[in-house]
Amino acid sequence: MTSELVCFAPGCRARYPIREVIYNCTRCGGLLEAVYSGIHKPAAELKKLWRERRMSNAPLDQSGVWLYREIIPFLDDERHVVTLREGNTPLLPAPRAAEYGGLGALVFKHQGFNPTGSFKDNGMTCGTAQALSLGMKRVACVSTGNTSASMAAYASAAGLQPVIFIPHGNISYGKLAQALEYGAKTFQVEANFDQILALVRVLAEKLGIYLLNSINPFRIEGQKTIVVEMMDQRDWRVPDWIVLPGGNLGNTSAFGKALREMKELGLIDRLPKLAVIQAEGAAPFFDLMQQADRAQLHAVGHPETLATAIKIGDPVSWPKALHEVVTSGGVVQKVTEQEIADAKAVIGLCGIGSEPASAATLAGIRKLTAAGVMARDADVVAVLTGNVLKDPDYIYRYHTGQLDDPHGTRLKSTFGNQPVVVPNDAGKIAAMLE
Ligand code: F0G
Repeated sequence: MTSELVCFAPGCRARYPIREVIYNCTRCGGLLEAVYSGIHKPAAELKKLWRERRMSNAPLDQSGVWLYREIIPFLDDERHVVTLREGNTPLLPAPRAAEYGGLGALVFKHQGFNPTGSFKDNGMTCGTAQALSLGMKRVACVSTGNTSASMAAYASAAGLQPVIFIPHGNISYGKLAQALEYGAKTFQVEANFDQILALVRVLAEKLGIYLLNSINPFRIEGQKTIVVEMMDQRDWRVPDWIVLPGGNLGNTSAFGKALREMKELGLIDRLPKLAVIQAEGAAPFFDLMQQADRAQLHAVGHPETLATAIKIGDPVSWPKALHEVVTSGGVVQKVTEQEIADAKAVIGLCGIGSEPASAATLAGIRKLTAAGVMARDADVVAVLTGNVLKDPDYIYRYHTGQLDDPHGTRLKSTFGNQPVVVPNDAGKIAAMLE
């Protein structure tokens, strides 16, 4: 079995050793991906092995990422793995959300059940393992919240120093609190996500800090296991659609790569369609898909959405994501702030809950079924990428009719649920409940 880093650009495909500290192709500037040759085990054997590991108490087997280590074989020494038992996230049927989305049935794969509350943990366990195997001492990322919380936790668990950069005033307190608690050196920069990513890349190079944004190909490897686990949980029955929110587009890239590789290995017999949903004020990938030649993504200079996790105007992974969406026969949709807010409340009413970016999935499904793009009887899995507790302020404002969109326009509290102030009086409260 060999593994190497290969330039994603079709006309280049330059190759680099797997242990080179490199984030972009030095020849053409393209994105890099881990490529393996010689994963020889037959599909049936892999499926059996992965099932058997569920009975094991070994840390690697208890991780929902490293359980599937045959599909991410970039590490030559498993002692570099630091696991917080990431992955292992449930598939949750949600009839009420299905009805709202115009579907007969809908299942959510909830990545918010991860140790730090988002899908980032799937990637971060791999990024951290690679940092350790490269002998790095410090790791860095820019983040609107989830990446920083995840990186801080995994880096500290691994004995590395986490250094995080966040847009000043644009991160939820819960997420900032996690980063501080996990011991990250934290810089709040007065710039947006895209600008800070450029800054961090310069600093990482200058100071020899390992970069753990989703441009890092090893994070993408870890995030592949989200859909591997999804297929395993479905006994390898391929859904018609997988729906996910799109920001920097790392997850879209990871899902597409995983699906292609699973098909090549004979683990699945066809590809599901990917539906990527963006917020209207931060939808450069949606715009790209409307272009005739799709040759160049035009960045949105001032992305705007209350769904801060996808408030990204210049997504680095767009060439990969474009390839994956097109290969799967999928689509990109955009949704409004009102649509996200209402869909989020409906997910809450299912007893499930999510942060706002995740809810873009249900809002997108509703649009896609209404347009006839997604059949009402389609078999659909939507990925909720983050935990309901990410943006509690958003939730409180929505339910109390105080949520304004980024332009200051008040959103309708369609499914509002106001708390009621009552006197300390059993009789009066009983009367109100009757
Ligand atoms: N959903 C959640 C909950 C996220 O935190 C993110 C990204 C996305 C979706 C978008 O995923 O970039 O792979 O398309 N959050 C980053 C962060 C920006 O800093 O935590 P993508």
